[in-house]
Amino acid sequence: MIQVEKIHHVAYRCKDAKITANWYQEHLNMGLVLAIAEDEVPSTKAPDPYMHIFLDAGNENVLAFFEIPNSPTMGRDENTPAWVQHIALRVADLAALIAAKADLESKGVDVLGPVNHGVFKSIYFFDPNGHRLELAANTGTTEQYQELHRVAAAMVEEWSVTKRAPRHAAWLHQQD
Ligand SMILES: [Fe+2]
Repeated sequence: MIQVEKIHHVAYRCKDAKITANWYQEHLNMGLVLAIAEDEVPSTKAPDPYMHIFLDAGNENVLAFFEIPNSPTMGRDENTPAWVQHIALRVADLAALIAAKADLESKGVDVLGPVNHGVFKSIYFFDPNGHRLELAANTGTTEQYQELHRVAAAMVEEWSVTKRAPRHAAWLHQQD
């Protein structure tokens, strides 16, 4: 059986590698780990310069970006609402989340939240590329996470048939 150890990196496009690396350093204290650049696509050798930057998201998690200046301007999936695709980063606790909000706002970033998701709270904002970012702090109990895990497969199964939100974890939203 394949056993994935962890996420090695996830990669998204960016508009400008230097601006992106600087923004993540200044706003999220995420340092530049590696930069890999080529003037041609490795597999096809087609000329298409790229810069691939790898940013430190803590605990050996890596968030990566590509700048590909020869491609048409970066857009987004217009058929998907802006809140759906996002990158969520964990902070230590609720105090760290509240402090992060104040810190980001002091640097001119528009921040939404904290939003209560029952077992974690989140704030939301955008990076300079239009990627939606989430900072999340876990607030649930071990029992709550265990209960969510217990009903997860049944919820997906019910959803696959009804396309309506199952009620197994309705207690999550009754705490608001
Ligand atoms: Fe999320």
